[in-house]
Amino acid sequence: MALQAVKGMNDVLPDEVARWHRVEALAREVFGAHGYREIRPPLLEVTELFERSVGDTTDIVQKEMYTFENRSAERGDAKRLTLRPEGTAGVVRAYVEHKMWGQSDEHRFYYLGPMFRHERPQKGRFRQFHQVGCEALGMPGPGIDVEMLSMLQQFLTAAGVGGLYFQLNTLGCPTCRAAGLAALKAYFEPHRAALCADCQRRLDQNALRVLDCKVEADQALARGAPTVLSSVLACTQGCGDHYRAVRAGLDALKVPFQENPLLVRGLDYYTRTVFEACSSELGSQSAVTGGGRYDRLVEEFGGQPTPAIGFALGVERLLMLQKDVVSARGPELSVVVAEESARSSAMVLVQGLRARGTWCDLDHSGKSVKSQMRRADKAGSTWVLVLGGLEMQAGKATLKNLRGGASKDVALEIDHIQAVIRSATPGAPSANP
Ligand code: HAM
Repeated sequence: MALQAVKGMNDVLPDEVARWHRVEALAREVFGAHGYREIRPPLLEVTELFERSVGDTTDIVQKEMYTFENRSAERGDAKRLTLRPEGTAGVVRAYVEHKMWGQSDEHRFYYLGPMFRHERPQKGRFRQFHQVGCEALGMPGPGIDVEMLSMLQQFLTAAGVGGLYFQLNTLGCPTCRAAGLAALKAYFEPHRAALCADCQRRLDQNALRVLDCKVEADQALARGAPTVLSSVLACTQGCGDHYRAVRAGLDALKVPFQENPLLVRGLDYYTRTVFEACSSELGSQSAVTGGGRYDRLVEEFGGQPTPAIGFALGVERLLMLQKDVVSARGPELSVVVAEESARSSAMVLVQGLRARGTWCDLDHSGKSVKSQMRRADKAGSTWVLVLGGLEMQAGKATLKNLRGGASKDVALEIDHIQAVIRSATPGAPSANP
């Protein structure tokens, strides 16, 4: 039987790659303009990193991580390794490991790449998926929360997301959250037997997680639950003021948001502001982006106390929302070899053109000129150059335009050929995508 890709892990085929490039280029442009610099942590980390940050009561850590024993038995090597299920933990680990707080007060990072979660595959949910994420470290005030959401709005709008809205909540700090958690636990306790087995355990470990349960009956109960919002708004450490300032800032910048006191996010490291960017066009997996503040994580990883906020967006979900088609481009030029005696000089010419950035195609089949022309057309080439002994001897040939433009006589010189091609298609990108 033919082998297939692992369930939930998708190939990105060449025809689709142009869309990925476009999202990645837009991320570099928009996040770069806001001062974010790329960071590339490894895909494999020690398991404990995620247990301590994402949290060992979360679905991600309890059910979804690809964890395995390390092969190496060298002393000091971690025993268990995990394919990263998300990017924040690795970025914070790198920040602490390289003592980056010493270099400046504020740091802005972005990352792009695959994440791995053993979830049940469905529309918009995969086991290998890709995130673009941003993390801003060292900024305690609400200004960066507002700036981040406004940046996301700019990015997602430019990426073609329709029906965009943000959901906003605050989880406060451990102190003010405690009162809310106690009320939450008291609310669920009489319904303990009706909760799913996971939620019965969650009730003892972290009652907030019950609000995040995907089981319909538990969700129905959660809808009537008290939230931590009222105790956070009364926080003596300023959590309420922070939240009010974020709301006012979003209003001032006209970033549309809905408050959702049931939004708790599926990771344990959050404090204060949490948010998701959703699209009404995505159906049940409506979140295209999720994020929030994690003011204590750097310290928990052994670094200096450093407030932080970040988000990650799912590239596959974003692409599902884009309606326009990025048409695949073909080569700028196909060289057709009419006589074998001309092949080696034709190859020298093609080599030179490619070295100078012209996307150039050369048929190696040895088939008839007609068949090579057909192939050039099918490949989507704009121009064709037919080379035989006569053309080589004369040092000139005719550039035929396959897309309805006028043909041109050219000298068989790289500069001249390039100049004709580019002047006829101004703005044409030069390199193969
Ligand atoms: P998250 O909400 O777990 O947050 O994931 C962020 C985004 O990744 C989701 O909104 C979704 O678009 C995408 N995503 C998650 N799981 C899947 C999946 N199985 N298949 C397809 N797409 C998926 C985080 O990962 C946090 N690290 C975000 C963050 C950064 N918070 C602070 N900084």
